[in-house]
Amino acid sequence: MAAAVVPPFLFATSDTPMIQGEGGRVIALPDPRTDSDMSVEAALRERHSVRDYSDEPLRLGEISQVLWAAQGVTHGYGRTAPSAGALFPLELYVVAVRVDGLEPGLYKYRIGDHELLEVTRENVHSDLVDAALSQDCVADAAAVIVIGAVVERTAVKYGGRAERYVHMEVGAVAENVCLQAAALGLGTVYVGAFNDKRVKQVLGMPREEAPFALFPVGRPRGP
Ligand SMILES: Cc1cc2nc3c(=O)[nH]c(=O)nc-3n(C[C@H](O)[C@H](O)[C@H](O)COP(=O)(O)O)c2cc1C
Repeated sequence: MAAAVVPPFLFATSDTPMIQGEGGRVIALPDPRTDSDMSVEAALRERHSVRDYSDEPLRLGEISQVLWAAQGVTHGYGRTAPSAGALFPLELYVVAVRVDGLEPGLYKYRIGDHELLEVTRENVHSDLVDAALSQDCVADAAAVIVIGAVVERTAVKYGGRAERYVHMEVGAVAENVCLQAAALGLGTVYVGAFNDKRVKQVLGMPREEAPFALFPVGRPRGP
């Protein structure tokens, strides 16, 4: 993947290249790895829900890698996970808490450009924790990845089956996230217990979008 071209005068003071985007800054993500020493079989073996995280921050490259695993563009318009009718109803958000190179705040993943759009640097994390029924894994995470979806995108072609298809797609993406986290030695857990309206409100999702899953991510605590 080609590195983002960023005019030098728009560089921020940190190491993270930033350019102005609509409504917020754009953070170029490190190029994802498309190969590693861990086999799919080993990642499957290692995957399990991790809910207890250390205080150590994540690296921007790790967040980049997990986002790419979730929805990265890999073949033409195709992505790492299948999509019914190639209609791609899913949207991804990152609530950054402790990520080196990323100010705490809310970001939207721009899938095609593999970059983050800063939505707000306000502390949305504590509100997200409340919306996720105060689960410790969400509270202790270094970052929380949220999957939203616009069911209508799929309904245009598949009508009443769209909701089912979106759930199926979220499941596929969820496993990608879990396997990638396992391959990176990170911990995550598929979180489905949350208040839909509150999560939607906290993330400022548009009317037509709804939240489907949360993935707190962090370094596993303990030995
Ligand atoms: C759709 C779905 C929703 C889930 N929601 C939560 C949740 O809200 N909180 C949580 O701690 N774990 C949640 N889990 C994780 C399960 O509890 C976990 O996968 C299960 O206990 C099996 O453990 P394992 O993932 O380590 O194999 C969810 C899993 C799925 C598939």
